[in-house]
Amino acid sequence: MGFVWILAAVVVVGVMVGGSYGFPEEDLVVKLPGQPEVKFRQYAGYVDVDLKAGRSLFYYFVEAENDPDHKPLTLWLNGGPGCSSIGGGAFTELGPFFPRGDGRSLRRNSKSWNKASNLLFVESPAGVGWSYSNTSSDYTCGDMSTAMDMHMFMMEWYKKFPTFKTRALFLTGESYAGHYIPQLAVALLDHNEHSKEFKFNIKGVAIGNPLLRLDRDTPAPYEFFWSHGMISDEIGLAIMNECDFEDYTFASPHNVSRACNDAISEANEIVGEYINNYDVILDVCYPSIVEQELRLRKMATKISVGVDVCMSYERRFYFNLPEVQKALHANRTHLPYSWSMCSGVLDYNQTDGNIDILPLLKRIIQNQIPVWIFSGDQDSVVPLIGSRTLVRELAHDMHFKITVPYGAWFHRGQVGGWQTEYGNLLTFATVRGAAHMVPYAQPSRALHLFSNFVGGRRLPNTTRPSIDE
Ligand SMILES: *[C@@H]1O[C@H](CO)[C@@H](O)[C@H](O)[C@H]1NC(C)=O
Ligand SMILES: *[C@@H]1O[C@H](CO)[C@@H](O)[C@H](O)[C@H]1NC(C)=O
Ligand SMILES: *[C@@H]1O[C@H](CO)[C@@H](O)[C@H](O)[C@H]1NC(C)=O
Ligand SMILES: *[C@@H]1O[C@H](CO)[C@@H](O)[C@H](O)[C@H]1NC(C)=O
Ligand SMILES: *[C@@H]1O[C@H](CO)[C@@H](O)[C@H](O)[C@H]1NC(C)=O
Repeated sequence: MGFVWILAAVVVVGVMVGGSYGFPEEDLVVKLPGQPEVKFRQYAGYVDVDLKAGRSLFYYFVEAENDPDHKPLTLWLNGGPGCSSIGGGAFTELGPFFPRGDGRSLRRNSKSWNKASNLLFVESPAGVGWSYSNTSSDYTCGDMSTAMDMHMFMMEWYKKFPTFKTRALFLTGESYAGHYIPQLAVALLDHNEHSKEFKFNIKGVAIGNPLLRLDRDTPAPYEFFWSHGMISDEIGLAIMNECDFEDYTFASPHNVSRACNDAISEANEIVGEYINNYDVILDVCYPSIVEQELRLRKMATKISVGVDVCMSYERRFYFNLPEVQKALHANRTHLPYSWSMCSGVLDYNQTDGNIDILPLLKRIIQNQIPVWIFSGDQDSVVPLIGSRTLVRELAHDMHFKITVPYGAWFHRGQVGGWQTEYGNLLTFATVRGAAHMVPYAQPSRALHLFSNFVGGRRLPNTTRPSIDE
């Protein structure tokens, strides 16, 4: 009798640990307005990172579509600095839902990354999206405080979702997350070195079109403009001759000569406003038209190369609906400003943009953690030209040999992009036809890349059928 009771107790405890019983019921998102039915669960809410200051970060968590108990956890951060991971990553790039053209409902993203992993999106730092602080001076912040808050966030989030504490953790993001993610990874590695108890189980780092080091990442847009016929030979040459990007600074006036600044301004003027710098192939959305249509309850969708280029306006409309904020448990303190993709309250340290991220990537790789740098090849903001050079320089610095020779990778019998790998740990991969926001314009290729990354596999460098057959 006693034995049976103990057995029953063990079974109950087993279910509680393995299943979702540890998850915070109050954070469960039952259903978002206009959301299609799904089988997986979503959670959203606040994690306080500093009770004294009243600083709290907002998160959105989506379980993997199938078998979430055996899938890893992936953290995704957007960049800026100061832009929303939920508005960006979760609802227009790699999450399970995108806003519909009416700005009042959602559609399924059939290429959501939750096919391969559980997904965690965080508004970081406080002041972004629905993350806030009751101490307004907290909005003056920078890379160091952002990484420290995210470290605290992860510790506290695990208290809400204890089954994930030991689960494989992947750290991912794009753009200025080229700073956030490596700095967070190093903070977690520092934690692991000092902690006798809990250690973060980091299994990989992947960053798309990342800002890594200004001497390479700042000239790259002008090379991209010139090679895509977006600026004249004269301006291209003027930038080449007048600009010394070695001592370029993130903050304006960038510590370059007057002639260089003039040439750069002229280049930006020629490129103009009628091009999407984040994906030079896509048409642009006209805000004045789309905003009027949303108010009139019309469909604002404008499709270009298979992509709804007005999605950012539909998203802003949707996230500012009070019923959406309520369903997400967001904006609990009634913030005195509306939701926007990039923060208007942050005063982010501009000097931190100058930080060289390569030594941090080196430290991560020295811990045997794979690092993938991927690049949407239609992005002119942080183009592949800079990233590929920096990855090669890092490989050289680490005395890494080429372990996958530069060549195409394949998806569905077509070239998904090009790749190379160094020292079995450092991968550079382009995604053909992708934007700065890689999953936005190339959802299928992006999911394929991500699935291989979290699966610990290389991208396939051969295809069937062969071109000769
Ligand atoms: C911030 O202040 C509001 C209003 O006083 C309070 O409800 C909230 O709990 C505070 N937030 C934190 C994280 O302390
Ligand atoms: C500005 O550039 C000069 C060289 O042109 C360099 O000596 C100096 O350190 C740079 N200043 C900053 C703030 O990087
Ligand atoms: C928060 O809620 C208030 C209304 O209580 C609204 O005016 C404001 O726009 C909302 N802010 C955000 C960031 O969602
Ligand atoms: C920005 O951060 C750096 C450290 O990275 C610090 O030295 C500097 O004082 C900060 N600047 C401002 C304006 O806070
Ligand atoms: C594919 O990658 C492997 C290493 O994984 C390499 O040995 C082989 O040469 C590559 N094939 C091509 C066609 O690049």
